[in-house]
Amino acid sequence: MRIGLLGTGNVARALAHGWSAAGHDVLLGSRNPKERTDLGLPVADLSETAAHAEVLVNATPGDVSVELLRSIGAPALAGTLLIDVGVGLSDDFTELSHPNSSLGEQIQEAFPLTPVVKTLCTMDSTVMIAPDSLDGPSTVFLSGDDAEAKRTTGRLLADLGWPPSSQLDIGGITTARGQEHFALLFIGIAGGLGNHAFNVKVVTQAAD
Ligand SMILES: NC(=O)c1ccc[n+]([C@@H]2O[C@H](COP(=O)([O-])OP(=O)(O)OC[C@H]3O[C@@H](n4cnc5c(N)ncnc54)[C@H](OP(=O)(O)O)[C@@H]3O)[C@@H](O)[C@H]2O)c1
Repeated sequence: MRIGLLGTGNVARALAHGWSAAGHDVLLGSRNPKERTDLGLPVADLSETAAHAEVLVNATPGDVSVELLRSIGAPALAGTLLIDVGVGLSDDFTELSHPNSSLGEQIQEAFPLTPVVKTLCTMDSTVMIAPDSLDGPSTVFLSGDDAEAKRTTGRLLADLGWPPSSQLDIGGITTARGQEHFALLFIGIAGGLGNHAFNVKVVTQAAD
């Protein structure tokens, strides 16, 4: 698929490498594409990237993502699946920018014709594209209102190494707030471990 990734930071570059290795056509979207020529990945401006994409990924700071998407414009995004990986966190990682809501919900509300799926934001970028690097299978969550958009996202997650058995659909886009608010616990776990390369696994009661 043609995948456009908004942002040129850790997440956008990691996912671009992961999906490129799986055979997808990736393009990074930057505010300053002329200054991003050394990434070893194709880069365009934000509008060109959105126009190119069958699937668009938001990998920009969560406190500016809605404004940045507005600069591209709702008509240009209408009908395009938007996979949102963003989280709005203060610089000291103690405050959420959407404490009683979520970025995923805010994007879906601002762009009702763009199906939004929240995923991958509960782990480090290194783990997003290398689930097998962990000591056993773990869980990736999906939140969104559009069933077809979630199916497409599930296939793209599989291409990164997340089998269906590791994917957990937790419901509509309002459940994105659970994924995003987990960021605070993520920071605590990372501090406790002294390491960001971990993930959670949902474990159920053993059958009798
Ligand atoms: N890092 C992780 O492991 C991780 C894990 C889970 C979720 N997330 C979330 O994923 C998103 C991206 O994370 P990241 O680590 O890739 O961030 P990052 O390294 O800081 O990159 C963010 C990119 O967004 C673009 N951008 C657009 N508007 C911006 C603005 N006003 N200020 C700064 N950058 C802006 C920049 O690209 P241009 O300068 O080229 O436009 C920048 O490279 C964030 O919302 C983060 O909370 C990150």
